[in-house]
Order: sequence, then C-alpha cells, then structure tokens
Amino acid sequence: MSNTSDSALPADFVWGAATAAIQIEGATNEDGRGESVWDRFCATPGKVRNGDDPSIACDFYHRYRDDVALMRELGLDAFRFSIAWPRVFPEGRGRVNAAGLDFYDRLVDELLANDILPFATLFHWDTPQAIEARGGWPERATVDAFVDYTEAVALRLGDRVRHWITHNEPWVHAWVGHGWGVHAPGRKSESDALATAHHLLLSHGLAVEVLRRESQGAQVGITLNLDHVYPASPDEADADAARQVDGFNNRWFLDPIFRGSYPEDMLRLFGDNVPQGTESDMATISAPIDFVGVNNYTRSVVRADPDGGRPIFVRNPNGEYTDMDWEVAPEGLHDLLVRLSSDYEPRAIYVTENGAAYPDVRDHEGTIRDTERSAFLEAYIGAVERARTAGVPIKGYFVWSLLDNFEWAYGYWKRFGLVYVDFPTLERVPKESFSWYRDHIASRRERQRSTPAAP
Ligand code: FCB
Repeated sequence: MSNTSDSALPADFVWGAATAAIQIEGATNEDGRGESVWDRFCATPGKVRNGDDPSIACDFYHRYRDDVALMRELGLDAFRFSIAWPRVFPEGRGRVNAAGLDFYDRLVDELLANDILPFATLFHWDTPQAIEARGGWPERATVDAFVDYTEAVALRLGDRVRHWITHNEPWVHAWVGHGWGVHAPGRKSESDALATAHHLLLSHGLAVEVLRRESQGAQVGITLNLDHVYPASPDEADADAARQVDGFNNRWFLDPIFRGSYPEDMLRLFGDNVPQGTESDMATISAPIDFVGVNNYTRSVVRADPDGGRPIFVRNPNGEYTDMDWEVAPEGLHDLLVRLSSDYEPRAIYVTENGAAYPDVRDHEGTIRDTERSAFLEAYIGAVERARTAGVPIKGYFVWSLLDNFEWAYGYWKRFGLVYVDFPTLERVPKESFSWYRDHIASRRERQRSTPAAP
C-alpha cells in the first residue's frame, strides 16, 4: 500500500446517503406490487415491535421528488437505494410488472437531473412472498429467479445506473432472517442459514455476469456488514475466540468472493450443516468485482468461554453506546478497512452504510439538536480519511440514513436519519446533523478539488 498526499480524499470521492426500499417507500399495495416476506412477517403478531409495518413508511414512493430536493440541499454526490423485487415480479418469477420498474425509472431520472449518482442495490431483504412459499433462499431455484429479476432491472435501468450492488449484508439475511428468526422470513435453522448464505453468494456471482452484459461499463459490487473483531485480552484463547467470530461474520463471505473458497476452520465448525457440493459454484462466486461495499456501525470485542461454549461478546465499561446499544468505535472502522485492503486487495471500497440511532426529540422550536450524531459522523469519517491516507482504496462514504425509517424488527422506534420524519404526518424536518453533513461535504469538496483522482 502506498501513501497518498496529505489531503486524504481524492477528487472523485463520493459523499452519499443510503436507504432501502421497504424501509422508506410505503405504497406496498400500489401499482401491482406483490407481497414481500416483510409484509407477511409484520402481519404476524409478536414479530415486529409495536405491530409496526412498512405499508406507509416514509411514503418515499410518492414523495421522492421532495426527498431528492433534500439530497440536493445536502450536496450529495450519490444516493444509495434498493429496488423492491416484488414490485418488479409480483409473483417472484414470470410476469414483469412494468409499473414497478417505472417507479425506479422515474427515480433514476430525477436523481440524474439533480446531478446525483444512483447506487442501486438489487436485494435488501424483501424477497417476494411467492418465492418464500416455494422454499425461499434455502432453495437453489431462488438463484435462477434472482437472475431473471436482475436481468429485467438491468435491461430497464442499465443505461443510466453506473453503480450496482447485488446484495446487501448477506450475513444478516442468512443468520438473522433464517438462522435466528428475528427478521423475515423468520426461519430458525442453521442449515437454512448456511444454504441461504450460499445461494445469496451464488446469485451474486451470476448477477455480476448479467450486469456486465446488460449494463456495460458499470461498476459492480456487493455490500457486506463487516466488524473488526478484537480479542478481549492477549490470551491465546481469546485470540482464538476472535478468529472464530471473524470467521463467522466476515471471512465466511469475504473468502468465497475474493478467494473462491469457504474458510477451512469454519467448515469444520459448521460441519454437516454446510450445504454439499458447493465447490463447483466457487468460480462463479469469485467473479472479479469492481468494489466491495462495507456497512459498519461498531466493533466486536470477544473472549473465550471458559466452559468451552461459543465466544462471548464483551461490553466496554467505559464505552459510549448508541440507541441500538452499539459501541461508538471509529477506530474499528479504520482497522477494518486497513485489514480488508491488505488481506483481500479489493479494487475499491465504498463505505455503503455508517451512522447512528439516537432517541431524537423535537424541542420547543421544532429543532432536533442531535449533536451526538454529528460527533459520531465526524469521528467515523475521520477514521475513513485516515484509512485512505494509509493507502486503502476508499472511494466513497454513505450515511445511513437520509430519513428516519422502518428499522426492521424495531419498527419506527429507532431513528437513524439526517432528516427527522414525523410519522403521523410524514413531515420531514432536517436535523442539526443534516446541516453538519452539508457543511462537511462542502468543505471537503473544496479540498478535494486540489487532489488528483484515485487511480
Ligand atoms: C443495516 C441494514 C440497514 C439498516 C442499518 C441500521 O444492517 O443494512 O437496512 O437497518 O443496519
């Protein structure tokens, strides 16, 4: 890794904000959209806090023009959003719903008209319920359905979308959705989780091929949730525990994508629950990609269980924690980026999500003084800049999220937005962190102008 000039960020560095379809769009019964696993999960009593559901969410489906105006006010270079598979294929496969694609067509044009680059994610966990009914992600046939879906989207948007993300956080969808039942579709099976992970990876590799063909010249990548894992002490047992958590969270996805194999130590650990005959898929899974997206919010500190059980996550008694109970640990992002770059040598990295939930309230003047969020962003962006100075090929940073939104099993309880959403009225109120980010982008852009573009 080579050192760059003292002004850390290159001229083509992109400043963005990220969202996901089901968390913001609403309009779940409009224009022919089919049911998704999240609609079904939310309708199941006891699954989502307060019985919240995504049927209205931020109503982005109708208000996207106003929200793009907010992005412009922020000075964003890029907007990361996801496409809802059930809008495009209401039955999962077969008949394309043109009205569903029309929405993303309008959104992409609106972004481009405002000089904002669309970063489109194909899958952010909203599988059509019809696919789940046929066995869902644990079934290999879902891979073929996803490839058809990718093709339909690329044929429609591939001329204008120049940055594609195949999947968002396959680890979360596999384990939280299929292993532990906390997210849709609510399965609780280790073998389902591992089969899901494998089929997400395989469908990623096949989607890369489709996108290369139908969206020529576009940049294609995948987004992973990665945390740097630290042992709680210098003891060898704690180092082993950290290696195991790193294998479980990080290497299980990084190794197939960048090295074409699952990590040996984890294969041993998962044993018979690993799907059979995966070797022949590895060449597809490890198709070269243009960038890897990193979603990072915290770090992990672990120690060995003296009774020989699973590694134990340790809380930092002096740590500062967000409303998600995630430790604020910007150095963890720095260390993660440096490690990712040296161990896997991706061509480029985007931080595709980073941000914090705080229990924001409007004061008497109607203002949201979320100073913790601005401080969080400043510290994490500082870590990104230090990683860049250390030679990490980091090309952009996206705040999670533009708007307060539907935070999965937490419903509307956890607020991550730069913009406050008053859910009963859907009014948008930019928080103080919105102004902070706007000013930060403006001042960085000034400096970046004098720095050459990244190679
Ligand atoms: C990530 C998800 C995103 C959002 C943030 C807080 O795991 O990708 O949709 O919920 O967490």
